[in-house]
Amino acid sequence: MAGLRYSGIVLLVIATSMAMTEARTIVVGGSENWRFGYNYTDWALKNSPLYINDKLVFKFDAPHNVYLLPNLYSYLKCDFGGAKLLAGAPNGAGEGFEVVLNQWRLYYFTSSNDKDCSDGLMKFFAMPLPRWQ
Ligand SMILES: *[C@@H]1O[C@H](CO)[C@@H](O)[C@H](O)[C@H]1NC(C)=O
Repeated sequence: MAGLRYSGIVLLVIATSMAMTEARTIVVGGSENWRFGYNYTDWALKNSPLYINDKLVFKFDAPHNVYLLPNLYSYLKCDFGGAKLLAGAPNGAGEGFEVVLNQWRLYYFTSSNDKDCSDGLMKFFAMPLPRWQ
C-alpha cells in the first residue's frame, strides 16, 4: 500500500511540474521590441533558459527584419551567406512575428539591415531546453 501511495505522490508532482512548464510566449526585447542599439545578448541572458515550444515574438519597424543564421561563424561575422529570412520588414508590425522554438538546436537570430548585426547589437542565440529539465 505504501508503494501505491508513493506512486500517487509522484504522479501529482509530475502533473504539477508539467502545469508549471507551459510553453511561454516571450516578446524579444520586452518593451524595447526588436530594434537597433538594444543589447539582445544581454536580454537573452536575462531571459534564459528558454524551453522547447516557447514562442518568441519579434515586433519591429522597417527596415529591420529577422534572419536565422546557420552557425556560430556566420553569427560572429554577421555573414548572411546561407542565412534564412524568417520575417521581412512588414511582418514586424502589430502583433509581430512569432517563431516557435520547436527544435533542440542552436538558433542564431539577427537583422540584416545595414549595421543591425555588426554595430546594432541586433543578434542573440538561444538553445531551448527540453521540457523535462
Ligand atoms: C551586451 O551584453 C553582454 C552581456 O551582458 C555584454 O557582455 C556586452 O558587453 C554588451 N555589449 C555592449 C556593446 O554593451
